Amino acid sequence: MYPVIMAGGSGSRLWPASRGLYPKQFLPLAGDQTMLQETLARLEGVETEGSLVICNEEHRFIVAQQAQECGANLGSIILEPVGRNTAPAIALAAFELLEKESSPLMLVMAADHLIRDVPAFQAAVARARVEAAAGKLVTFGIVPESAHTGYGYIKRGAASGEAYDVAQFVEKPDAETARSYLDDGGYYWNSGMFMFAANVYLDELKQHRPDIYAACEQAWQQKQRDVDFLRVGKDAFMACPDDSVDYAVMEKTDRAVVLPLSAGWSDVGAWSSLWEVGDANEDGNVLFGDVLSHDTHNSYIRSEHRLVATVGLKDVVVVESNDAILVADKHRVQEVKKIVEQLKASD
Ligand code: GDD
Ligand code: MG
Repeated sequence: MYPVIMAGGSGSRLWPASRGLYPKQFLPLAGDQTMLQETLARLEGVETEGSLVICNEEHRFIVAQQAQECGANLGSIILEPVGRNTAPAIALAAFELLEKESSPLMLVMAADHLIRDVPAFQAAVARARVEAAAGKLVTFGIVPESAHTGYGYIKRGAASGEAYDVAQFVEKPDAETARSYLDDGGYYWNSGMFMFAANVYLDELKQHRPDIYAACEQAWQQKQRDVDFLRVGKDAFMACPDDSVDYAVMEKTDRAVVLPLSAGWSDVGAWSSLWEVGDANEDGNVLFGDVLSHDTHNSYIRSEHRLVATVGLKDVVVVESNDAILVADKHRVQEVKKIVEQLKASD
């Protein structure tokens, strides 16, 4: 089995720590290691082949250095000239693995998740292996805690071996639909991690999105390897439609199964997630770096360079970086990406 790590996202809701040149997956947001390094380390002790990382051309040295620092067993680093979302990224990894074996299993992981119970995760991976080897596309389902609209929702069908058939997969439903799923029960959040054989994924992609398949195949045929990196054909890849694996394949395939995962999974999508997963003090604050607070409650306060002090606040996020400071309502941190959009527009 080959771990495949998707590390090409921009992490704009974690501005000002996460930047275009240094997005969140390359930062130590929740521990000593960066999120990429934690992802690489998550399979320690499990027998795997070398991990593949797929990222943007401009992050190649960060990835190579971080993998080396943590002593990861790394296979290839595949570079994309531009991001075309996860369906094409996974296709490139699948083409690469098919050069090694005829039906290689790939464990696709995002580079920006936290998993607190690593043994539970590894046990789920072992179960997924059986299903993936039988030709299934395995998703790992998380029992939903809220009607979050940033996730995929999976309706559980009949039991199938260690897992359940996927009766329905709906990527990022609106709030009302998400709420109805929670009320109905029997739904999981899609964790954004998958296991399948590379050839099975490509067959499904070819069937449901022949346009993406063809562009990736062409980009693959034009690849170039150097000692450290693998680059795909630029023009062919730039012409590839942009779509996520969730919309392009998982919503459409009838070969998906869902394996429940209870391993303290969390998607570090916005600053409030770091408050949720952090160690709160007696006032409910999660503090990072040089911070003093008085009569401050249920807040996330992060200092990277200067002393940050707060008085009389509740439910806020304060993030100080060397050239920008964010002060936000903790319930509205999804909108931080609006600031990033404004910054881009004024560039
Ligand atoms: N190489 C590469 N290229 N990686 C990418 C690209 C790309 O163009 N776009 C995103 N990624 C990486 C991100 O860095 C992240 O690690 C992962 O792929 C998932 O992308 P996100 O952009 O974070 O997806 P999402 O959070 O909106 O939704 C996905 O994850 C949710 C759970 O966290 C979906 O799978 C949802 O269904 C799921 O619930
Ligand atoms: Mg995400």
